[in-house]
Amino acid sequence: MKSILDYETVSLIDEDDALEIIDQTLLPGKIEIIRLHTAKEIWDAIYLLQVRGAPAIGVSAGMGLYLLMKHSKAQSYDEFMKELDEKSDYLNSSRPTAVNLSWALKRMKAHVEKVYAKMSPRDGVSGSFSDAVRPKLIDEMRDECQRIKQEDIDVCRRIGEYGVTLVKDGDGILTHCNAGQLCACKYGTATAPMYLAHEKGYNIKVYCDETRPLLQGARLTAFELHSAGIDTTLLCDNMSASLMKSGAVNVIFTGCDRVAANGDAANKIGTSMVALAAKRYGVPFYICAPTSTIDINTPTGADINIEQRKPEEVTEMWYKERMAPEGINVYNPAFDVTDNELIAGIVTEYGILHAPYDEAIRKLFSEIKK
Ligand code: MRU
Repeated sequence: MKSILDYETVSLIDEDDALEIIDQTLLPGKIEIIRLHTAKEIWDAIYLLQVRGAPAIGVSAGMGLYLLMKHSKAQSYDEFMKELDEKSDYLNSSRPTAVNLSWALKRMKAHVEKVYAKMSPRDGVSGSFSDAVRPKLIDEMRDECQRIKQEDIDVCRRIGEYGVTLVKDGDGILTHCNAGQLCACKYGTATAPMYLAHEKGYNIKVYCDETRPLLQGARLTAFELHSAGIDTTLLCDNMSASLMKSGAVNVIFTGCDRVAANGDAANKIGTSMVALAAKRYGVPFYICAPTSTIDINTPTGADINIEQRKPEEVTEMWYKERMAPEGINVYNPAFDVTDNELIAGIVTEYGILHAPYDEAIRKLFSEIKK
């Protein structure tokens, strides 16, 4: 029988002009694959977390932008780029914290600019913009968004290879939210070391925080790890400190939505609480982040825009009946920032970064540029 791991989180169905996703709001009860065609459908799917997690949002935005430009009628390059900017800005407004969203949109635009710059008439491009240039730019957009997806799979695998060096046979591993296959295209980020440890035959025990209010840990991480045959235990968010104190947790891996240039890391609300308890109980806390999640233009965690979400997610969603008084004030930030001094290392596809993070990040980015 097919398991959740056999489905693609995000795919491009070019012949139907569609972005295909698993509707993650229905998991684990129902695996429903849906196709998104319009800008509004793609925007809503990202906002409503039908597709979610930093890397998957990035891939969706890249593919979405391609689909929205595929039937462009622009008659000149300037018109084409104006339309691209408008569509890109719209998609980018769906969720503010995960930098992968704007990263993928910027990458798509930069690719179009690069291709166009090489297409001067002397290089043999003839014909009008609409007959020759526009179709070429659109083809290139399709290839670029597919590359973003393929790279995501490779990057997560490499994060797993570095991350698994931090795991020993028999370890207890804690994670928060879902930074698994469902938030990326395969392996996930924080779960990549777990999948690789499992592949190696290590006897690991994974603890998943349920992750209030949207329960990504319970609905998604516990579901996918359990489906993979990994020994998985679910706990409420307010139980992780006592679990750490009991000695059951040897290492913690979480994902990340944006790492600032100084190593402060925004991730799902509750992550910083986990990191604080980990410090107290001497458990190493690692952030797993592809370099597409590191934002060198954001100096510190204080500069990260934290998404605020609807009160209903706290008061009534997931309950049969409302569980809080009508009219109550609700504090519902979707993410928090873990201070860099609480982080034992940032596991990237190029290796594990250690403090001082500002230096380590600067060095990594200057080496990648070469
Ligand atoms: O609100 P979500 O479900 O999109 O939040 C997801 C997380 O916080 C993940 O940990 C993060 O995006 C990293 S995914 C590799």
